[in-house]
Amino acid sequence: MKLDQWKRKRKTATFSMQEVIKILICGSVDDGKSTLMGKLMYDAKLILKDQFESLLTESKKYGTQGKKIDLALMSDGLQAEREQGITIDVAYKYLTLKKKKFIFADTPGHVEYTRNLVTGASNSDFSIIIVDASKGILPHTKLCTLISSILRLKRIIVVINKIDLTNYNKNSFLKIKNEFIKYANLLNYGNIDFVPVSALKGDNIVKKSKKMLWYSGKPLLKIIEELSLKNEKKTKDLRLGIQLISRGKSERFYCGEIFSGKLKKNDKIFISSTQEKNIIKEIFSSRGKVSNVDGPQHVSLTLRKNTDISRGSFLSSIENPVTNYSSFNAHIISLNKDFLRVNQKFKIKFSLNTCNGSLDYISYKFKKNNLNKIKSNKLEINEIGLCKISLAQKLPIDKFSKSSKMGSFIIIDPSNNKTIGAGVVETLHEKKDKEIFWQNTANNYLLNDNLNTQKPLVLWFTGISASGKSTIANLVNEKLKKLNKKSYLLDGDNLRHGLCKDLGFSELERKENVRRAAELSKIICNMGYVVLACFISPFKKERHMAKEIIDENNFIEIYCKASIKVCEKRDQKGLYKKARKGEIKNFTGISSPYEAPTNPDLILNSNKNKPNALSNNIINYLKKNNLI
Ligand code: ADX
Repeated sequence: MKLDQWKRKRKTATFSMQEVIKILICGSVDDGKSTLMGKLMYDAKLILKDQFESLLTESKKYGTQGKKIDLALMSDGLQAEREQGITIDVAYKYLTLKKKKFIFADTPGHVEYTRNLVTGASNSDFSIIIVDASKGILPHTKLCTLISSILRLKRIIVVINKIDLTNYNKNSFLKIKNEFIKYANLLNYGNIDFVPVSALKGDNIVKKSKKMLWYSGKPLLKIIEELSLKNEKKTKDLRLGIQLISRGKSERFYCGEIFSGKLKKNDKIFISSTQEKNIIKEIFSSRGKVSNVDGPQHVSLTLRKNTDISRGSFLSSIENPVTNYSSFNAHIISLNKDFLRVNQKFKIKFSLNTCNGSLDYISYKFKKNNLNKIKSNKLEINEIGLCKISLAQKLPIDKFSKSSKMGSFIIIDPSNNKTIGAGVVETLHEKKDKEIFWQNTANNYLLNDNLNTQKPLVLWFTGISASGKSTIANLVNEKLKKLNKKSYLLDGDNLRHGLCKDLGFSELERKENVRRAAELSKIICNMGYVVLACFISPFKKERHMAKEIIDENNFIEIYCKASIKVCEKRDQKGLYKKARKGEIKNFTGISSPYEAPTNPDLILNSNKNKPNALSNNIINYLKKNNLI
């Protein structure tokens, strides 16, 4: 192998080996964020000698620790911050631990700088929320938790700092922990760690402290090191945003960034602005001309047919194309010192596109203290609400749950170009005909019972006839009722007696059947129920459609796996027998295909196991994932 080839190979190998993990660090002012970061790096021996020496000098000048080194100054990056003794901007710190690269976004604790907190959170995967043990949970702690939840950060690590001030008291730790859990439960946040630490003294930072033998968990550094994104379900849909078109002699080069997915030579692609199909001819990446690339990275392309693609267009696969929308529901945080109000006009900026927009109505806003949803026609500064937005033109958008880059935006005041809000897209509204409008049903979201701690869900049971879908779902339904959960079983056979009685079993009719079933499931789910939806739903594409309609956050795919042989033997309804005789057309498994799910959330093997055991598997799965 030639040397340059080897170097290239080595470079890509190291690059792909390293997992990059982004962590938000937030909390209230004076809770010791910067000290914690400093201590973490200092104790883990990640500070260089010259950094240490300059810190010593600066500590004497600006420090709060007398003659001792003030580790907080490591993170308080800016001059202005040092002089005021607070963190203003987002200070990014980079660490490499255990072959993983960590990027910490150290954000300000002052309410005035919530915008920086939102910026830091929008670039992060996990969140460390610091609570001062002597002060307990403050309003800003709740804001950090709410923002972490809305921006779907995967896990929260609550660091209860300054525990030395409470004499390493277990009860003060537990009091904060319980209060936090109560609040996080309202957000259905399950993945939370709690660590009592003293950042100043180094307790439970790198090593377990001997002063808190009552604490059975791991020290902070260990918890951080174990964070991983490897098992995360990543969006694989291709999203390539075009940023520049340059003209060669006869060819055009389309340059942009792959936000997600991959691409190879000769792939068929769909262009969002022209709504045309095209084929990839050549791909150039930082490694030169290549035959395939994986996102995220910047690339330059040529296409088989030269075409007029505008900046801000997106290329996607034909199967999962980017759609243009001009109306959606979004969680918005107001960053305006006055407020954001209904009917306000502004500019909206997505990753690559900006256009005029307006706030049509506010379905609800959160009361920060107890997360009650209240009605209002304005969002005061730092308030978060679910809003309906209209755009002056259609833009390529995805839901935030599908793509954080395609589904987040900022709101700009056109009179002074200041950012006055930020948001994440929750649901997209397909504009039908001009005569059909989307009606404001804001009151639907205001819960008037005390069951708002139940996560609404759709458990989508798929599998061939007699695979056990309805039997297992019936048992799950019964068990959920015993756990005081609202649940509702929707059965394919029953729906075909009413809502779907006009449909048969051709591919097209099954598609329509699944669409109606998904829409109905969504309505019941929105009412706060766990819906048990039992439909053969034999085609992958239609199950994907159901997931899109319902929202992937609420959708759990359960595959009832049983062989044709076993199902045919069961044949409770005598349908297999008829199908074999040719008396039923398009019978799934016999004269019509069943496409088994490739990556279901749960597989129930009903060949071998009894329905009761399988229904327990589901209940356990829901409990384990903090869904019930
Ligand atoms: S789906 O394929 O469109 O999702 P659905 O779950 O609603 O089907 O209905 C399936 C039920 O209809 C089966 O449980 C079976 O009792 C009955 N049935 C009648 N004809 C067929 C057929 N050709 N294929 C499958 N199921 C059929």
